Formats: sequence, structure tokens, C-alpha cells
Amino acid sequence: MSNTLIKIYMGLINRVGFLRRFRSKLIHNVYSFNSLPITKVFPGIGSVKIDLIGLEYKYLGDDGEIITSPNDMVAICAIIKHIGAKKIFELGTALGLSTLQFVKNSDDDAIIYTIEREAAQYSKTYRSYFLNEIDLTPEQIVGWYYKNTDFKNKIIQLRGDTLTYDFGLYYNKIDLVFIDACHGFRSVEKDSHTALKMLSEKGVIVWHDYNIAFPDVIKYLHRLSKKIRLYYITGTNIVVYKKNI
Ligand SMILES: C[S@@+](CC[C@H](N)C(=O)[O-])C[C@H]1O[C@@H](n2cnc3c(N)ncnc32)[C@H](O)[C@@H]1O
Repeated sequence: MSNTLIKIYMGLINRVGFLRRFRSKLIHNVYSFNSLPITKVFPGIGSVKIDLIGLEYKYLGDDGEIITSPNDMVAICAIIKHIGAKKIFELGTALGLSTLQFVKNSDDDAIIYTIEREAAQYSKTYRSYFLNEIDLTPEQIVGWYYKNTDFKNKIIQLRGDTLTYDFGLYYNKIDLVFIDACHGFRSVEKDSHTALKMLSEKGVIVWHDYNIAFPDVIKYLHRLSKKIRLYYITGTNIVVYKKNI
């Protein structure tokens, strides 16, 4: 074998070894996290009834990727009902599929605030993914699932970047914050700080996409779990923080 071939071979071995170690470290971290069934984290939640809507339209991407997992939605809606959340704040609206579930599974006098970036910032991503298929303009995309429903009066659609938006108006007022915007480390960190400030006395934060497809979410939450008590809800992709309950 020539020197070049040996170098390529060793390079591959090192890379594969590195990737394997990285992957098993992530998997180890996922399963060594404080994981509990939802009924242990929220005693009594088992009696709550959930009604998901709109999920039959599409929750699988063309490549089979799960866009919104029904398990996660059931868990989050159950928490909303169980704690009787009156003010809910979602970071990351997209098509509004989760917003629609929250609005359907909350009290009639509950309000759901949901924030999405301005069209110029997200349209590129969605153009390839949805626009061709369902023929919507970037502006129509935001909140598409709930826009033509009777629930829209319970929803306040906000526009802006969560990294720079002034959330001061909502500090100490929100019963449930759902973090599902950008999944990069700095964004999750900033959104989490915002969420902690917005929580009401008995508020709950739910982080989405705690799985190995989003290593920064895992990394940040593991770091945060050294400071505050977090729970990974088994069978889902969500992590939860309960302020005073
Ligand atoms: C995973 S999607 C939200 C999915 C939605 N919550 C659901 O489950 O149906 C994330 C959304 O957050 C938006 N987003 C990403 N970074 C953001 C930011 N910094 N500020 C506001 N929205 C952001 C993206 O444009 C995208 O529409």
C-alpha cells in the first residue's frame, strides 16, 4: 500500500472512530439525563384528555423526517391542560401546527402568544420545503394551520427575532413557554433565559427537539440542568422545567 493510501485509510479510521465516539457520547447523555415518565413529573396528569387536530394533514416530510411528533404534542397539551395554563408563549410558530394544538387543548379564556421571524428571514427554508407543494406565499405560511379556524381569536401572532425581541411585557406572566425556534446553542441559550424571565409563579418551560439530531439542544440543556432541575419526558423529544410545582 502506498503512503497516500495508508494516509487516506488512517484518516477514515480516525474520522469514523471520532464519529462513533461522538454519537455514543450523545446517546449516553440522552439516556443518562434525568428522565421520567410524564405521570411522575406531573402526578395526576394521566386523567387529562387530549384532542389533536390537523396532524392528519402532514407530519412527515418528503424524506420521511418527522416534522411534528404526535407524542410530543400529546405531552405538551396534557401539561397545558393539567396546569390550567392561561397564558402560553410559543417561540417558533412556523405553520402553526403546534399553536393549533395548544389552542384546541387550553381553556376558552387562555391566550397563546406565538412568535415567528419576519418573512425575509425564513422564506428561503420554507420555499424549498413547503411553498412549491402547498402554493403559499411566505407571509401566508406563518400560522397557516390556525388562520382559518375559529380558534384564531385566542392567538396573538407576534413577528420578530427572539434574539432581539423585547419580551419585557411578558415577564413573570406566562404559565407555559414552548421553546422551538432556532436550535443552535446561542439561540437556545438566549431563548431559555427569556423563558425563565417570562415564567409566572407556577410556570413551566418545555423545550422541543431534545434528540441527537439537535446536539446543541442537548448540550445546552445538560449545562442548564446543573443549575436548575430539568426532566426529560420519556417517549418524547421534550424537556421540562417546573418553577414552583
Ligand atoms: C421547528 S419550527 C417551529 C415548529 C412549530 N412550533 C410546530 O411544532 O409546528 C421553528 C420555527 O422557528 C423560527 N425561528 C427560528 N429562529 C428564530 C428566531 N430567532 N426568532 C423567531 N423565530 C425563529 C423558524 O423560522 C421556524 O419557522
